[in-house]
Amino acid sequence: MGAPWRLGLALLALIGLCAAGPVFDWGLPPGVAPPPVPADNPMSPAKVALGRRLFYDADLSIDGTMACATCHEQRRGFSDGNAAHPGVNGEPGRRNPMTLANVGYFGALTWGDPRIGSLERQSIVPLTGNHPVEMGLTEQGKVLAGRLGADPCYRRLFAQAFPDGGGRIELTTIAKALAAFERTLISRDAPFDRYRRGDRAALSASAQQGMALFYGPGQDCASCHAGSLFTDAAGAPTGSLAAFHRIEPVSDRPDQGLKDITGDPADAGRFRTPSLRNVALSAPYLHDGSAPTLGEAIRRHGVMLKDTDLTDLTAFLNSLTDQGFVTDPRFSLPKPGCPAP
Ligand code: HEC
Ligand code: HEC
Repeated sequence: MGAPWRLGLALLALIGLCAAGPVFDWGLPPGVAPPPVPADNPMSPAKVALGRRLFYDADLSIDGTMACATCHEQRRGFSDGNAAHPGVNGEPGRRNPMTLANVGYFGALTWGDPRIGSLERQSIVPLTGNHPVEMGLTEQGKVLAGRLGADPCYRRLFAQAFPDGGGRIELTTIAKALAAFERTLISRDAPFDRYRRGDRAALSASAQQGMALFYGPGQDCASCHAGSLFTDAAGAPTGSLAAFHRIEPVSDRPDQGLKDITGDPADAGRFRTPSLRNVALSAPYLHDGSAPTLGEAIRRHGVMLKDTDLTDLTAFLNSLTDQGFVTDPRFSLPKPGCPAP
């Protein structure tokens, strides 16, 4: 059988290895492409394992009480049940914690700040931000590096995850490992996906009605909750304002969304389209958590809908819940103790 063919493949594999390091196994369902990965933060199993550990570690907050997972719980699609979550010093949170499914694909992150285009950049915000204070390491990235560096387990895990940089423990490598873990949070196996793969029984009649409304010209929900990730932030270029929309009349509430960043009055009340994957698990809703139910969140768009339409739309949104994702052991709290080398 075709030796040249085999040789060609071997050569290709070799070129791939030299150019991009070993190929990372994303373990994705067929037909699903992995998210883009920045050239300076290649994926590796060691880095993802480190990022997962960091994500669940309350030592990432100033007083050891708060992990990323405190506000991003797996069983809620990596969101939490509060309208807003107070930071370590009790300062009330400003916004509703977001779900993290498929974040690796989004070119615009957070509800209102188009400058935050990468996960590497984003995680610095909860760690060190002071508007509001969340994990409380304001100006103190060094405290964190010192704290983790004092732990022999972390020293080994950073050395394995960042062999080229000598395993340096600093805010940038912490952020890179967190980002690598977050890129693996891919949710593409909800009843909706099974329906699209041909399993007609995966959606109830009501959910199918809701789907027709969702994509129909009357509502056109998919003009913003676009594509298979249900947000136009997927694939948006960094800095683009295209994924920020106003769904309600501008109010005098303190959070003016995009305007707080751009200063442009026309941007008042514009927020980034949230993904709707696993949305049934992430109540309450909207940037300030002011909508307790899906029905209320939909009504707040100012749409005219009959109660039956709302029921059907809600049934459709329920079909975006991916039970495999929210129970996947790869994304859960890691076992206590240091993993074997
Ligand atoms: C105190 C609660 C809290 C903690 C702790 C927290 N987050 Fe968040 N997270 C939020 C809130 C609130 C938002 C929305 C922020 C905004 O829009 O201004 C958010 C947004 C995000 C987003 C953007 C998601 C998207 O779709 O745009 C990512 C990614 C994220 N957080 C990751 C993390 C990581 C990593 C950590 C740990 C280093 C962390 N978060 C810790 C509350 C929290
Ligand atoms: C013009 C763009 C646009 C259209 C059209 C649109 N949405 Fe939204 N949707 C948004 C934005 C932006 C938000 C967040 C608004 C906020 O937080 O204040 C949102 C929020 C939501 C939420 C809450 C999600 C969460 O995590 O908080 C749901 C549910 C939702 N939309 C469903 C729908 C449905 C169903 C339709 C069609 C009837 C629809 N949307 C049409 C832009 C849109």
